[in-house]
Amino acid sequence: MTKKILLLPGDGVGPEIVKQAENVLRYLIDSGQLDATLETALIGGAGYDAAGVPLPEETITQAQRADAILLGAIGGPKYDTLARDLRPERGLLGIRNALGLFANLRPAILFPQLAAASSLKPELVAGLDLMIVRELTGGIYFGQPRGIETREVSGSNEKVGYNTMVYSESEIARIMKVAFDIAEKRDGRLCSVDKANVLEVSELWREGAEAVGQSYPNVALSHLYVDNAAMQLVRAPKQFDVMVTSNLFGDILSDCAAMLTGSIGMLPSASFDEQGKGLYEPVHGSAPDIAGQDKANPLATILSVEMLLRYTLNEATLADQINQAVNQVLDQGYRTADIMSDGMTLVGCEAMGEQVLAAL
Ligand code: NAI
Ligand code: MG
Repeated sequence: MTKKILLLPGDGVGPEIVKQAENVLRYLIDSGQLDATLETALIGGAGYDAAGVPLPEETITQAQRADAILLGAIGGPKYDTLARDLRPERGLLGIRNALGLFANLRPAILFPQLAAASSLKPELVAGLDLMIVRELTGGIYFGQPRGIETREVSGSNEKVGYNTMVYSESEIARIMKVAFDIAEKRDGRLCSVDKANVLEVSELWREGAEAVGQSYPNVALSHLYVDNAAMQLVRAPKQFDVMVTSNLFGDILSDCAAMLTGSIGMLPSASFDEQGKGLYEPVHGSAPDIAGQDKANPLATILSVEMLLRYTLNEATLADQINQAVNQVLDQGYRTADIMSDGMTLVGCEAMGEQVLAAL
């Protein structure tokens, strides 16, 4: 059956990098290797500019009909003065919520050609292949109550800001199942990260991990407090294989893990609903400092296409081919500015995309 893929280019470098990923998909379709159609819709500032809202209804409808979604990035300084509900970031949170995308997979894999670009010594990161599973639609980002209000604080009125970290047993169980399934297929090791020494919500998280773990006798479950986990990630990252954590902790730890691999321009991600439908996107944002200059690295987005083919469309062979093409281009010495080093060939966003196509 023909699959529907929805492209959401978004803002800043989004349209530039999605264009290169689209070229890869079109090549696979036109050469008869992939049975799929491509559609494009608005999100973020692009949605606001054209329709007055960061997540037009039409985009939600198209996303619901699609088998898989590829997003570029949203946001930019031009939108920073808008009311919170109209800002591009609300478009991204909104689509995650509307589609129930609760499981965010962020692999941190070091391409050996880029070992020198890591912020850690090469011997600490050589062969790094880590998967962070982050819960995406619960926790403090969505917990109620939340707000800013004026209250009496020790005798005088002050503004007070508050958010609430909430997880239910079922929310914990479903993210744990995703993480255990992945750990079972990989190295059989899962590290759950929380702050159970201080937070009740983490106590429940830890109980939930242990409970789901009963059904996975082949996976060794360990627990770390988030502060120690952050330290261990930069001390000895290769001790980890799969990590699972809540929304806020995962946001922070996965950016930290990302830098171990050299550049944020290399990192793809996937977010899933309960049926396995996925939204794929580079980890980075709209990079306003380089937008419109043909400087962005399109590889994170092209590697997101690899994940899309592997996880949602079950096209492992095509996914492998994309990975091999990226490896070949790096072997040939082509580098965008963010991963440039001595002796390599500097290319722009478009030329990098063309080299990947040539390698394919
Ligand atoms: P950013 O990820 O856009 O940029 C951080 C740094 O990395 C910049 O120096 C940028 O030039 C560089 N960079 C990012 N992607 C790159 C690529 N593909 N190739 C080469 N260099 C790249 O994060 P920043 O600056 O904090 O945020 C900019 C905007 O993006 C904000 O409006 C923010 O809200 C939004 N944002 C959106 C995200 C998304 O769409 N998922 C995620 C993070 C931020
Ligand atoms: Mg982040």
